[in-house]
Amino acid sequence: MPSFPSHRPRRLRRSETIRSLVRETSLLPSDLILPLFVVPGEGVRRPVASMAGVEQTSADELLRDAEEALRLGIGGVLLFGIPEHKDEAGSSGYGGDNIVSRAVRRIKAELPGLLVMTDVCLCEYTSHGHCGVIRDGDVDNDATVPLLARMAVAHAAAGADVVAPSDMMDGRVGAIRKALDDAGHTETAILSYAAKYASAFYGPFRDVAESAPTFGDRRTAQMDPGNVLEALREARLDVDEGADILMVKPALAYLDVIHRVKAETGYPVCAYHVSGEYAMIVAAAERGWIDGDRAQVEALTAIKRAGADMVISYYARQFARRSGG
Ligand code: PBG
Repeated sequence: MPSFPSHRPRRLRRSETIRSLVRETSLLPSDLILPLFVVPGEGVRRPVASMAGVEQTSADELLRDAEEALRLGIGGVLLFGIPEHKDEAGSSGYGGDNIVSRAVRRIKAELPGLLVMTDVCLCEYTSHGHCGVIRDGDVDNDATVPLLARMAVAHAAAGADVVAPSDMMDGRVGAIRKALDDAGHTETAILSYAAKYASAFYGPFRDVAESAPTFGDRRTAQMDPGNVLEALREARLDVDEGADILMVKPALAYLDVIHRVKAETGYPVCAYHVSGEYAMIVAAAERGWIDGDRAQVEALTAIKRAGADMVISYYARQFARRSGG
C-alpha cells in the first residue's frame, strides 16, 4: 500500500480544476429524465403543495416544459396521466385516446427529437387507486396484465419511445413485449420497474398523480425494503421477459440494490430518485438547514456512482438550468 509521506491524497484536491480532472463520476443533464404530469384541459398549470417546482399541466403547457427539457439537453421526459374519469378497471388509461397518448402525439408532432417515456400503471386511472383490477380485496395479477399491455400498445402507437411499467405485476414485461411486437412496435423499448419497493417515500407523488389507494396499501405487489436477493431475481425475470432497461426505485435508500443489479445483470440501470427523497431535501433547504442545490447534486451523483446509468429526477430541470444549458 502506498503510504504517507510520499503519498498525499490532498494533492489532487487543491483546486476545482484538478478535482474535476480526477472526478470519477460526473453528472450531466443528459443523464436525467424529467417526470411530467398531464391533466385534462387547456392552459392548466397547477402547483402541488408537497412538491415544490412540480406542476400538473394540461398538454399545451406540458409542451412548453418538454420544449425546455429538450433545449436544456435533458435525457428525456417521463409522462404520467391524470384522467378526467376514473373507474374500477382504470379504463380511461388504455383506450386509444387516453390522456397520455394524446400528450405523446402532441410532443412528437412538435418536438420529434425529445425522448418520450410513459408510465404504464393503472393506479392513476382506477377509482380505488390500486395498480390493477381488484378481486377479493387485492389486485388480481392475471386480470391486470392484459390491461397494462393494452396501455403500453396505446402509448407506443402514439409515438412513445420507451414504456415504463411501474405496477409490479408478475409477467407483465413478457406480456407487454409480446403485445408491442404483435402490434408492430418492435422498436419500442421497455424500462421495467424490476425492483420497486413498497416505500414511504412515494407520499408526495400520490398527491401529484392523485393515485393514493383508498384502502389498504401496495405491499402485496411492491417489494419488501429488507430484500436485495429478491431484487436480483426480479431483475433476471424481467431480462428474460424482454426488458431493455431495469429500474430500481427508490434510489437513495437503495444504493446497494442499484449497485448489485448493475453488477450482476450488466444491463442499463435507471434509478428513480422519488418524490419523497426530493421533497425532503426541498423541505430541509426551506428551513435553512441544508444547501438544497448542493444536496440534490450530491444525491444524484451518489446514485450514478452506485451504478445507475440514468436517473429520473424532479430536480432535472433545475440542474440543467444551473449547468448553463
Ligand atoms: C405508480 C407509481 C408511483 C410512483 C411512480 N409510479 C407510486 C406508487 O407506486 O405508489 C412514485 C414516484 C415518486 O414517488 O416519485 N404508478
